[in-house]
Amino acid sequence: MKDQLEQIKALALEALNSVESAGDLEAWRTKHLGRSSAVMDAFKQLGSISKEERPAMGQLANEVKSALEAALAERQTALDSARVQASLQGERLDVTLPGRPIPRGRLHIQTQTMRRIQAIFAEMGFQVYRSRDVETDEYNFQLLNFPPNHPAREMQDSFYVEGGSEDNPVLLRTHTSPGQIHAMREYAAENPENPAPVRIILPGMCYRFEQITARSEIQFTQVEGLAVGENITFGDLKGTLSEFARRFFEAEVRTRFRASHFPFTEPSAEMDVECFVCMGAGCSVCKHSGWLEILGSGMVHPNVLRNGGYDPERYSGFAFGMGPERLSMLRYRIEDIRYFWRNDVRFLEQF
Ligand code: PHE
Repeated sequence: MKDQLEQIKALALEALNSVESAGDLEAWRTKHLGRSSAVMDAFKQLGSISKEERPAMGQLANEVKSALEAALAERQTALDSARVQASLQGERLDVTLPGRPIPRGRLHIQTQTMRRIQAIFAEMGFQVYRSRDVETDEYNFQLLNFPPNHPAREMQDSFYVEGGSEDNPVLLRTHTSPGQIHAMREYAAENPENPAPVRIILPGMCYRFEQITARSEIQFTQVEGLAVGENITFGDLKGTLSEFARRFFEAEVRTRFRASHFPFTEPSAEMDVECFVCMGAGCSVCKHSGWLEILGSGMVHPNVLRNGGYDPERYSGFAFGMGPERLSMLRYRIEDIRYFWRNDVRFLEQF
């Protein structure tokens, strides 16, 4: 019987080695420690062996039963901890990993540049005047002193839209200058005998029916400026625009004025800023001139003042028109104007 008990124990422990799950373990318990298991049978057999042998065999049977129970508990613990480990591994979180970036919206580069220009002029006392995108020939050209056959008129090939008449067709504005007339007329209407001085900028989109290249688009923004009052001189124009350039480029940039021609200003000048890529030495950005053109300007032509309701004998003024895409290109070294309205996020995301 002793051998029998040893064998029962050995078989049961061996079977326990291959138990891998809670279900297997329960089956093992029923089989090796349950009511009809071999150890339990051994207890029943104790009655049929001799009185001398009985205590020792009884003790041995108890020891085997306890050993199996202990092995069961140990296996139970091992299986439990293996299960906990597995779930810890499976659900592991690395709290040191960087987070996933949340895509953020932003203002279009031209909105940023327009706001910047507006803020600088606001500091100098200019108000924003909003004019319209759709104009008549009268406002876009005639009232700005373009004679019917003036060559400058040919330069601005226009997008015509439906409406208007043969001698006054409707078009998308080719520049922001027609807003000068709208603004002056609105100001003058309030007090025609004594119109109030004007100090405004007119931002907006302009349209030209042109070949699209790296330097010119059919759709682009402009910021027009207009100051009208008594005793306004060319010195005011130069001072205002040079100061603007310094504030916009955040540097002591030098500026230069070159004589030019526009029908609505006399005299007219284009303003250049010193090329800050080569500092005037000459490079490919400034086409080896050392200077970059940023705007057109001039003293408001007497005919234009008159068309706006301001007596040129008493009032004078200066006007300018700049291309904000041009300013962004210089400030951020963008090489192709076509990027601006192409809506490629890879470009827009950089600003
Ligand atoms: N309107 C001109 C243009 O589109 C710019 C300009 C505005 C020039 C005002 C002088 C005065 O080129």
